[in-house]
Amino acid sequence: MKAAVYDQNGPPSVFRYEEVPDPTCAPDAVVIEVRAISIEGGDVLHRARGPLASRPHIVGYQCAGVVREVGEEVDDRRPGDRVVAVMTHGSHAERVAVQAGATWVLPEGLDFERGACVPIAVGTADDCLFEFGHLVAGETVLVQAGAGGVGMAAIQLAKRAGATVLATASSQEKLERLRELGLDHGIDYTKQDFVAETRRLTKGLGAQLVVDSVGGRTLRGSFDAAGYRGRIITVGSSAREADSVDVSVLRGGNKSLTGVFFGAELLFHTTRVKPMVDRHLHAVAKGDLRIVIDRSWPLAEAADAHAYIESRRAFGRVLLVP
Ligand SMILES: NC(=O)c1ccc[n+]([C@@H]2O[C@H](COP(=O)([O-])OP(=O)(O)OC[C@H]3O[C@@H](n4cnc5c(N)ncnc54)[C@H](OP(=O)(O)O)[C@@H]3O)[C@@H](O)[C@H]2O)c1
Repeated sequence: MKAAVYDQNGPPSVFRYEEVPDPTCAPDAVVIEVRAISIEGGDVLHRARGPLASRPHIVGYQCAGVVREVGEEVDDRRPGDRVVAVMTHGSHAERVAVQAGATWVLPEGLDFERGACVPIAVGTADDCLFEFGHLVAGETVLVQAGAGGVGMAAIQLAKRAGATVLATASSQEKLERLRELGLDHGIDYTKQDFVAETRRLTKGLGAQLVVDSVGGRTLRGSFDAAGYRGRIITVGSSAREADSVDVSVLRGGNKSLTGVFFGAELLFHTTRVKPMVDRHLHAVAKGDLRIVIDRSWPLAEAADAHAYIESRRAFGRVLLVP
């Protein structure tokens, strides 16, 4: 099969498109013929600095496609099933082997492209807001990087839950478009101090919940944007800066900081997470939840697709198609 591979971390130009061995199907796995690859925020970070499982390495956490092989221990998947799958690596390829338990059947009416974008972004947003963030109707949430995949899902789920939703983004244009997803107040952090703006918009109280997928200096600001007893969720590091934060500042305001890792929840709390993601897949199929797709590139042009994402011009997911 063909795959987008690299031998060392670095800029998007490290990608080569070449022939690699086909994946083999373990007894508890399925082999998927990939139809759409959602380039996750984590894929871009992983390419830049994540560990390599092998050389060459195939990056990628999530894709959708058709089941072509089924391991002998798997009884709930069949060849021909349309599925979306999550994995530690391997999505940037024509085929991928994944544990059957890390796949969801795509509901009728949900195409491979939108389906490929759902589990990680929407599942993570759901966990940040509710399982770990304890958001309830009437509260105010600040979503950092609202125009990212996790951010767009968080805005929609928070709004649906009856919260007032604030979000940051790097341009007024992105913030305007986020209004269609339910954003109440946008903060262009390139021109405005997001801490002061959050305080102003909440009449000095601060947000009850802050979902931070950016990290670094932004995370430090998230501490201050959170109000008394505010909850701060750290879920990512898009800024690629060290998180050297002084947690003593949390004490005065009785604030709490919680880390969220969706992959661990899927592994350790499978019976909660599997149906939760399934509900979101059905919500997307019915049009109750929107997946915004910016554009698709051929898998052979993975380097250009990653470079486009890093240019910060994309609004919505960028896909690769084998
Ligand atoms: N812990 C978990 O379980 C989990 C799960 C999913 C994702 N994540 C992490 O969460 C983060 C976001 O993931 P995602 O899929 O939402 O990513 P994404 O769709 O690529 O969005 C990232 C957003 O971050 C903003 N950003 C801020 N500083 C940036 C910088 N220096 N370089 C690039 N973008 C920057 C960009 O928006 P603006 O241009 O508007 O600033 C961009 O829209 C990643 O770090 C990812 O690894 C963690």
